[in-house]
Amino acid sequence: MYRNLVMGKRQLKFNSRTIHGGQAPDEAYGAVMPPIYQTSTYAQSTPGGHKGYEYSRSANPTRTALENSLASIENGNYGLAFGSGLAAIDAVIKLLSPGDEVISTSDLYGGSYRIFKKIFEKFGIVFHFVGMQDTEEIAKHISAKTKLIWLETPTNPMMNIIDIMSVSLLARKHKILLAVDNTFATPYLQLPLDLGADIVMHSATKYLGGHSDVVLGALVVKDKELAEQLYFIQNASGAVCGPMDSFLVLRGIKTLHVRMQRHCENGRAVAEYLANHPKIEKVFWPGFIDHPNHEVAKSQMKDFGGMISFVPKGGNFQDAIKIVEKLELFTLAESLGGVESLAGHPASMTHASIPKEEREKSGVVDALIRLSVGIEDKEDLIEDLRQAIE
Ligand SMILES: Cc1ncc(COP(=O)(O)O)c(C=O)c1O
Repeated sequence: MYRNLVMGKRQLKFNSRTIHGGQAPDEAYGAVMPPIYQTSTYAQSTPGGHKGYEYSRSANPTRTALENSLASIENGNYGLAFGSGLAAIDAVIKLLSPGDEVISTSDLYGGSYRIFKKIFEKFGIVFHFVGMQDTEEIAKHISAKTKLIWLETPTNPMMNIIDIMSVSLLARKHKILLAVDNTFATPYLQLPLDLGADIVMHSATKYLGGHSDVVLGALVVKDKELAEQLYFIQNASGAVCGPMDSFLVLRGIKTLHVRMQRHCENGRAVAEYLANHPKIEKVFWPGFIDHPNHEVAKSQMKDFGGMISFVPKGGNFQDAIKIVEKLELFTLAESLGGVESLAGHPASMTHASIPKEEREKSGVVDALIRLSVGIEDKEDLIEDLRQAIE
């Protein structure tokens, strides 16, 4: 368990914790940023005589600095960093045994769906994909074998909002673990552990890293026993991140709060522009008062983020392709959460691994475009959309 800096009698507030949470100057020379400890192993004076580090799969000081920062910003006690978001998800599912059941939101990142269906189903773990906007729907799928509820909110790419506190009460009643993928919201907007979740997961590749220069995953928990099980899996399975990547994400986290503030501001401007555009049929953004579960979003999130999906009028696949091809400032690319604006076509890119029938049930139609609104000037972003849509 990491130790956090305290000011007077209270914990630092969120913005200060992005910079200082779980951090201390390096013991060797007082370096303010942790050195990139590019080493696989550590000298021992006698067998077991080491300074807390033996081998970098088990632990590395730069990774420890990041793991402490992650725990601090998510209001948890223990952080774990992995080689990718999917490696972090892999570690969570390895808590389970054959025959165990998982209830997952039906509208989720395609790669999460793929690891559940194509990797873990063959080891005898059963997955139920359920629309979770109404907690009652989840209750219908709970059995004595249910061990984990997996949710994303806002969901990728439909921006559906799931009530974390309501699901956590249900999970607690049935002694089921609740894991929340907090990649889209980040702890700047929402704190799942405070709302009753047991595990927070991140693709830190996205907003936490924030600069599209690293792939990394994270888990944060409060409970010591759960942390120990996950640390065991992290070391035993070995999907850890390297020190350079740990350093990059740690550096990214230090500006998370300022970047997120601008992502939210630009996200609102772009969402409103699209919603008023005569050639746009539907815009999905949780900040709209008529967005399903907007009231839940308002209560569990501090703002509404910079992720937006939309469908051009008529829902024509070719029109959507034309728009993404014409964009100049928005780059057509996989991923999200970096300082630069990106556009994606979920049906053929991020969600291509979900069968068409399944993805269309949750609204991921062929004409859907997803935007990750960056932190450029919003006037430039709107001008780019204007010229691409006309
Ligand atoms: C919501 C969400 N969860 C998990 C992942 C997987 O993370 P990674 O690509 O870092 O493995 C992604 C990647 O796009 C994502 O968007």
